[in-house]
Amino acid sequence: MTRQVLLLSGPNLDRLGTRSPEIYGTATLAEHVARASAVAAGHDLEVRHLQSNFEGDLIEAVRDAGDCAAVVINAGALTHTSWALADALAAFEGVVVEVHLSNPAAREPFRHLSTLASVADGSIAGFGGLGYELALEAVARLIDDQPTPPVDQSTVIARPPGDR
Ligand code: DQA
Repeated sequence: MTRQVLLLSGPNLDRLGTRSPEIYGTATLAEHVARASAVAAGHDLEVRHLQSNFEGDLIEAVRDAGDCAAVVINAGALTHTSWALADALAAFEGVVVEVHLSNPAAREPFRHLSTLASVADGSIAGFGGLGYELALEAVARLIDDQPTPPVDQSTVIARPPGDR
């Protein structure tokens, strides 16, 4: 059965393409969703997308995502303010992946806090639209509980203790 992934986009992401293209690029949100959906389809996953400029819409979408295996979320600036959205995600039982086009850690101080990071399985930031594809790859691995491929120990260079 094809499993569902809820992709959530927060405030102002509907303006991607023309909004601060020097930071967020020129791709539209529809193009990002299409890229994510294509990767998902390769793993027999289906993306259900919602964009909203309203915090409550996003919270309710997470609440109603019980049939979804994962939530991938770019919450826009709500990332830095919304403990309510963090609480909603904490109550979601599937995989949670936080995505950002830019790298908030390298931007203004108010963007350095993510309320969502502590309730996400992981965060992907700074890779532009590629982040959406990476997020769906991560979801596919995590929900199938596929082990990370073993490291070829012969290629690992051991450092002596104290050699930093
Ligand atoms: C963003 C980063 C946020 O700080 C900002 O408010 C956004 C977009 C990103 O994708 O880089 O709206 O989430």
